[in-house]
Amino acid sequence: MAHAYRDDFPLLKSQDVAYLDNAATTLVKPRAVGEAVHRALTGAAGYARGGYAAAQRAGDLVYDCREQAAALFGLYDPSRVIFTQNATHALNIAIHALARPGMKVAVSGFEHNAVMRPLALHGIDPAVLHTPLWQPERMVQEVRRALGEGTELFILNHVSNVFGAVCPLDEIGRLLSAAGVPLILDASQSAGVLELDVSRFPCLAAVCMPGHKALYGPMGTGLLLALDDRLASRPLMAGGTGSLSESMNQPDFLPDAQESGTPNVPGIAGLAAGIRFVRSVGAANIAAHERKLVHELARALETNERLEVFSHPSQTGVLSVRVKGVPAAQAAAQLADAGIAVRAGLHCAPLAHRTAGTEETGTVRLSFSFYSTPGQAEQAAEAFKLVKKL
Ligand code: ALA
Repeated sequence: MAHAYRDDFPLLKSQDVAYLDNAATTLVKPRAVGEAVHRALTGAAGYARGGYAAAQRAGDLVYDCREQAAALFGLYDPSRVIFTQNATHALNIAIHALARPGMKVAVSGFEHNAVMRPLALHGIDPAVLHTPLWQPERMVQEVRRALGEGTELFILNHVSNVFGAVCPLDEIGRLLSAAGVPLILDASQSAGVLELDVSRFPCLAAVCMPGHKALYGPMGTGLLLALDDRLASRPLMAGGTGSLSESMNQPDFLPDAQESGTPNVPGIAGLAAGIRFVRSVGAANIAAHERKLVHELARALETNERLEVFSHPSQTGVLSVRVKGVPAAQAAAQLADAGIAVRAGLHCAPLAHRTAGTEETGTVRLSFSFYSTPGQAEQAAEAFKLVKKL
């Protein structure tokens, strides 16, 4: 499948490095992404602030990205696509708009600090659901139990950034929609990989995602799908929007309510090209490619008895590994010397590590993209054989 899109292969071809840190940022992008960034950088200016050609171009580019994102996620109204700097920014907006001190909030045991820290900042100590690794049915039970206890807001990680474990959104979405309880979905690792049609889940209040991971956009881009009307009335930030300039108050309509200041138009143009790429290949094909690689790698690593491999048939292209007796950072440094780029430690998700029992040690994480190759997986498996305690 990867070869069918060879023409789209990137400007940034990493020749000597097996880049396997795609859960952090996809390094290899479709060629069209870089081209779109350059075109916007040299041809667009004054977004929503002028009637001249460059300003109109900026407006067109931004609107095009809203439409692309809306089409990818089944959103009927592109004005509900909010541009952010990253998923963290989107989660901060959503939590600020929807959570209040004293509210009963429940989270999964896989949440990232991008959820836990904003909740703490807002004085909220959420109930952490008991969601053991690779037991999605337990997560459904826990959500049902929390609903029975009067939970008012759920925040769930769609795919764990540490383990690639998938939240059973179909079942949970049905439960929450029937109960009329809102859900903030952290789609950081799923957007562009797992198909998501937001129109199927009335409970979805907000979906938060980065542009720079599996949507193949540049770093510094993110999206918030603002499905709950409260997102229009409780902005995280206020300022110039180019609209209603006579008023000292923030507009109360989307997207302006949540988009103050000049946006990252080159980044957004690149993101539109990334989303087009995802739409043209299809999230299901991307997921199939990544899953094939992750399972091949897991099988190869499992033959090495010094390794503990966190693998499951349902995982996406994210794999955690521990090397017995070797600290994760030390293992990652040796892999880096061998040309394998991975991320080690707690991955800004200590809660996920606590859930899996890896909080003390952390793990070495390897993560794939559509541009990853079987050769890179083999290179990584070989490199692990040489990792030793220093
Ligand atoms: N949250 C990103 C990661 O998992 C940056 O690496």
